[in-house]
Amino acid sequence: MSVPGGGSARRKLTTFDIMVMKSRGEKIVAITAYDALFASLVDAAGADLILVGDSVASVLCGEETTLSATVEQMTYHGRIVARGASRALVVVDMPFLSYQVSVEEAVRNAGNILKHTGAGAVKLEGGCEIIDKVEAIIGAGIPVVGHLGFTPQAVHALGGPRIQGIDEDAAMFLEEDAVSLAQAGVFAIVLELIPPSLARRVTETVSVPTIGIGAGPDCDGQVLVLHDMLGLNEGFSPRFLKRYAELGKATREAVARYAEEVRAASYPAAEHGYEPAGDGG
Ligand code: KIV
Repeated sequence: MSVPGGGSARRKLTTFDIMVMKSRGEKIVAITAYDALFASLVDAAGADLILVGDSVASVLCGEETTLSATVEQMTYHGRIVARGASRALVVVDMPFLSYQVSVEEAVRNAGNILKHTGAGAVKLEGGCEIIDKVEAIIGAGIPVVGHLGFTPQAVHALGGPRIQGIDEDAAMFLEEDAVSLAQAGVFAIVLELIPPSLARRVTETVSVPTIGIGAGPDCDGQVLVLHDMLGLNEGFSPRFLKRYAELGKATREAVARYAEEVRAASYPAAEHGYEPAGDGG
């Protein structure tokens, strides 16, 4: 039986399965979800890893950035996603300020997220500057995914969603961050918005899988925000994004048709079990 990746077995994937996929040369399919319904759909479609991203703040809640996400919010979304996922490994983002302030807060928040969600791991943004927190969380028995390159929680410091690691110095720092995270024990690293050549270099250097978003084809896996790839988030169309459906358009058209039919009193109709009212009522 060949479980990791496209295997037919429906048992829950573990962090080990995700790591083994790199050594087997199997691409890791990661995608975000924020609720049980979409989690069960992406799980059934064969996603290996479901990320409960703090992008929930912008994608679902209409915020400009991810900064407003809270531990309570991530715990709620983590819990309902875990309910919908029977095979995929569920990873919950640690939100802004839940791990940066102190090692103690980082461990407590990560532990509470795992304890109250049923997820299998947490994800933290950053490299060497948070390595003490990463080590302590892993030391407490909590699996961690790293996140380098454009890190949305640092959007103001980075001057917006820009490609990172362009010049050689920045590339070297990013590679060092990846090595430090791998040495600290993360089981995967998300690489966001970096040049494909740097993503390839990092992927070849570290033993843990890299999961890219806007980082080219040579990462060990890819992650996309579900609502972006479904075309629900119509205002967001960076070059790296492929839309696999146009559900925003489909939703608008469906609701407009419904509105038209309600106003014309043509819905509900006979085929929905209702007889048109005759003169006698
Ligand atoms: O919050 C999120 O959705 C993420 C992905 C973009 C990787 O961190």
